[in-house]
Amino acid sequence: MKSLLKPWLKPDPENSIARRCREDELTKARLKYQLWYLSFKGQQGPRVDWEGKQLLMMSSNDYLGLSDHPLVVRAGKQALEKWGSSTTGARLANGSRSFHHELEERLAAFVGKEACHVFSAGYLACMSAVSTFSSRGDLILVDRNVHSSLWSGIGLSSARVERFGHNNPSDLQDILMSEARELPKMVVVEGVYSMEGHIARLPEIIEVGRGNNCFYVLDDAHGFGVLGDRGQGTAGYLDCVRGVDIICGSLSKSLSSVGGFVAGDKTLIEYLRTHSKQCIFSAAISPVQAACALAALDILQREPEHRLRLWDNTRYYKQLLNQLDLDTWDSETPAVPIIVGNKERAYRIWKNLLEQGVFTVLAIAPAVPPGKDLLTHRGFSPPYTLRPRAGC
Ligand SMILES: Cc1ncc(COP(=O)(O)O)c(C=O)c1O
Repeated sequence: MKSLLKPWLKPDPENSIARRCREDELTKARLKYQLWYLSFKGQQGPRVDWEGKQLLMMSSNDYLGLSDHPLVVRAGKQALEKWGSSTTGARLANGSRSFHHELEERLAAFVGKEACHVFSAGYLACMSAVSTFSSRGDLILVDRNVHSSLWSGIGLSSARVERFGHNNPSDLQDILMSEARELPKMVVVEGVYSMEGHIARLPEIIEVGRGNNCFYVLDDAHGFGVLGDRGQGTAGYLDCVRGVDIICGSLSKSLSSVGGFVAGDKTLIEYLRTHSKQCIFSAAISPVQAACALAALDILQREPEHRLRLWDNTRYYKQLLNQLDLDTWDSETPAVPIIVGNKERAYRIWKNLLEQGVFTVLAIAPAVPPGKDLLTHRGFSPPYTLRPRAGC
C-alpha cells in the first residue's frame, strides 16, 4: 500500500537528536540487562507475581501497607462512582473540587501548617516548592544528596546554587559565612533521605541559618507517616515545624495513593496558587487519588499500629542485616539501603535475590554517589509482624 504520509512529513531518520537517542549506551545497557521496569502480573499485599513466580516486594514505598486496606479501596471506588475518572483540568480553571479542599485542610493540619496545595504527583509538588519560591538574584543552598524533583525545581529557577555536604550543618554554615547576610536564600533539604535513610539534622541546619535571611524547604516524602509520635513527619518529630517555611511531600508513600503536596503559611500557599506553573498548567489530582489519600490519612491517624509495626519490622530487619555484617549506610529509618560498593556486585546480588524470590531495586552511580551502589529496601510493613513485638 502506498504510504499516506507525504514524504516531507516522514520523520528524518538521520536527525541528530533521534540518532543520539538510538545510539544511547545507557538505554542499550538497560534493555540488554533488564534490571528495571519489571512488570508484575498480580499483587497481593507484599507479594507480586513475575514470570510465574511469587516475589516478596522489599522495595515498595507503601510504608504502612495501606494500598490494599479495605477502607482505602472502598474510598477509591466510591470516588470513581461519584466524581468519574478525572478532573480534566487545572485547579485554576475547571479542575477544582470540594474533595481537594478537604484533603488540603486535613494534610495542612496534620503536618502543622496553615494551608496546603495538592498536586497530581509528588515530583511536581517538590519541584514546584523550589521553583515557585526562588527567583533570580536568590541563592539556593542545597544538600548535595537531595531527590531529583528538587534538582528539577532548582533547574527551573534562575537562582544561583551552592551545594553543601550531605546532612552537614557546619558545611552549610561555612557557605553562609561567605555570603552577604541580607541576600535572599533558600535552604533545600529532605526530612528522610530516600537512598540513605538518614534523618535531616534539621535543628542544627535551621540554627546555622538564623539571621541569614533563609527560607527553608523540606521535602518530607519519606518522613511523612513514618516519623513522629503521630506519624506527622520529620519537622514534627524534631519539633521544627515553625523553623521550616515549606513542607512538601508525596502521597505515593505512606498514603498509598499518587500525588503530592506543598504546605506552609496561608500567604505562601496563595502565592504558590498564583505563580506555580506546575499548579496552573497541569490537571488537578484525580478523584480516586484524592479519596485514597484521604482514607489512608484517616487510617494513619486512627490506627497507629501500622506505623508501630513498620518500626518493629524495620528494627528486626536491621538486626538481621547487622548480623550478616551488611553495610546499611547508618540508616536511621525504614528506608534501609544495602551498600554493595560497585555496580557489578550490586547486579549479581540483585539477580541472586530475584532468583530466590526477593524483589529489590538497584540504584547505581550516578543515581547514588560513586562507591555507594546499593539495593534499596524500604517500606517493610506487610500486614503481619515479622516476629512478635517485644513484650507480646
Ligand atoms: C524525596 C522524594 N521527593 C519526591 C518524590 C516524588 O514523589 P512521587 O513519586 O510521588 O512523584 C520522591 C519519590 O520517590 C522522593 O523520594
